[in-house]
Amino acid sequence: MKRHTPSWLANAFFYEVYPQSFLDTNGDGIGDLPGVIAKLDYIRSLGCDAIWLNPCFESPFGDAGYDISDFYKVASRYGTNADLKRLFKEAHKRGMRVCLDLVAGHTSTEHPWFKSSAKATKNEFTNRYVWTDGVWKGAGVPAISGFSERDGNYVTNFFHFQPALNYGFAKPDPKKPWQLPVDHPDCLATREEMKKIMRYWLDAGADGFRVDMASSLVKGDTDFKETMKLWAEMRDMYEAEYPDAVLIAEWSDPICAIQAGFHIDFLIHFNDPAYTSLFRSEASRDLFGFFADIPPSFFDRKGKGDIRVFLDYYMKHYRKTRGAGHISIPSGNHDIMRLAEGRTMDELKVAFTFLMTMPGVPYLYSGDEIGMRYVRGLVSKECGYNRTGSRTPMQWTSGKNAGFSTGKAKDLYLPIDPAKDHPTVEAQEKDSDSLLNHVRQLGALRRKHPALGGDGDFEPLHAEKNRYPFIYRRKLGAETIIVAVNPSAKPVSLDIPFKSLRSLLTELLAKGVTMKHTADGVKFEMQGISHGIFKK
Ligand code: GLC
Ligand code: CA
Repeated sequence: MKRHTPSWLANAFFYEVYPQSFLDTNGDGIGDLPGVIAKLDYIRSLGCDAIWLNPCFESPFGDAGYDISDFYKVASRYGTNADLKRLFKEAHKRGMRVCLDLVAGHTSTEHPWFKSSAKATKNEFTNRYVWTDGVWKGAGVPAISGFSERDGNYVTNFFHFQPALNYGFAKPDPKKPWQLPVDHPDCLATREEMKKIMRYWLDAGADGFRVDMASSLVKGDTDFKETMKLWAEMRDMYEAEYPDAVLIAEWSDPICAIQAGFHIDFLIHFNDPAYTSLFRSEASRDLFGFFADIPPSFFDRKGKGDIRVFLDYYMKHYRKTRGAGHISIPSGNHDIMRLAEGRTMDELKVAFTFLMTMPGVPYLYSGDEIGMRYVRGLVSKECGYNRTGSRTPMQWTSGKNAGFSTGKAKDLYLPIDPAKDHPTVEAQEKDSDSLLNHVRQLGALRRKHPALGGDGDFEPLHAEKNRYPFIYRRKLGAETIIVAVNPSAKPVSLDIPFKSLRSLLTELLAKGVTMKHTADGVKFEMQGISHGIFKK
C-alpha cells in the first residue's frame, strides 16, 4: 500500500511538554493541563506548531507516568479528560497539533489487566502479559518472581512495576509453551486494545502519538521483523481512519522505524552508556556523545569532535528514508542531559542553528529554548535517577518559584534550579540577543523558507573528519540556503570551490561569519563559536 504522509509534517516544529514541570495553575506544586493551555501562545511564539505531551494518564507514578493504570483517564494531578479535550481544541484554534504519549510496551502493575493477569485462575487477561509457566523457570530476560498466587514470573519491560504486555514472540521456543506466537488470539487482542486506545484519543481530538519504546513490543525479535509488521498494521489503521494523524517512534533507528510505518523517528543522543544499552539501536550507540562529551562532542568549544561520527550514520538513514518519513534530532528530552550542560549561550545558539536547519522535524524540549541547565545533586524523583536533573520546573519569571507555581517551595514536583543566575523566559524576552529570541528567529526562518523544512534537500558541503566547520546546503525548488556552523573556539577560514555558490548573497541570520566571493566559489571566514545562514 502506498502510504500517505500528512502534508503538515514537512514544516512542523514540535515542543515537548513535560506536564508536571511546565506550569502549575492550582498551587499544588505540580504542572497541569490548564497550565499547558495557558502557555499555548508562548509555545506558538517560538514557531512551534505541534506539541508532544508526555504521559498524562492515571498512574501510580512509579516512572513519572510511564506506568499507566488507566489509558482512558487523565491523571487527576494533571486535570480531567475535559481539560485534555480543551487543550486539543485550544491548540487547534491556534493552528497547532497535540500528540500524546502511547506507552504500548507495558503498563503499571496497578492496571486492572495486570491484576487479573496475576490471578492463579485462568481469565481473559491471563495472557495479556508475558509470564513464564512456573516461578522456578527463568524467562531468560528480566522478570519478577513471587509477585502473586500465579505460579510464574512476569517479564518486565523497564522497571519492576512495568510488566511487558504480550504481543508474542518472533520465534517461540517449542520447549517453552508460555512463549506465544505473534498471531495467537491473546496477543492479537493486546494489539486491538492498543488500537482502541489510540482511536479513543484520536476521536477526542489528538493528532497522533509518540510511541514509547516502540521497538520493544515483540519479544525475541532480533531483526525487528515482527515488530515492524505490527507497526505496519497500526499505520494501516492510520491510513484508513486517521490520514492526518502521526505516529512518532522512540526507536532511534529511522530505517527500521520508518519502514515499519512511523512518520517520524528520533535520533536520540543519549548521554549515558548504560542507559543507551537498553535500546538495541545502532544510532543510540553511534550518536552517543554527539552532544555529550564521550567521545568528544562536535558541538563543543574544545573543537575535538568529529562531525563524521554523526554524519556517516545520518546520511545512511537519511538516504534510505527520504520521502517516506522524517528523522528528528531532538534538542533533548526528559531522559537525557540538558543541551545546556557545559555550554555557554553562544554555544547553544550554534547548536540550535544546526538543529533547526537540518531536514526532518525539529523537536524542542521545554526549557532548552532558554538554556535551562541540568540540575545536579537531586534525589531521584519517580525513578528519574540521573534523568531527574533534566526534569526540573520551567523557569518563567524572576518571581516566586520562578513563576512555575504559587505553591510552597517544599511542595513543588522538583525544586527550581537553585542557581542564582538561572535563565528565565521573562529575562530573555527582554533581550533581543537571547537564546530564546534566537530560537524564535530560527523558527520563523524555517517557516518562511521551505528549503529549510523537512522536505528540502540536504547536502554536506564541508564535513571533514576531525575538522571544523560543518557547512551544508538545503534546497527546494529554486530556493537554496547555506548553513555554516563552527562550534569550536578556534576561528577558521575556508574556501568552498563551488561555482554555483558565487551568486550567494543574502545573510539571513549570522554571528561571526562573513562570506566573500572568490574566483571559483566562496570563502567563509568564521570566528570561534559562530553560525551563519545565507540565501542564494
Ligand atoms: C522511555 C521514556 C522513559 C521511560 C521508559 C519506560 O524511554 O522516555 O522516560 O522511563 O521509556 O517507559
Ligand atoms: Ca497543579
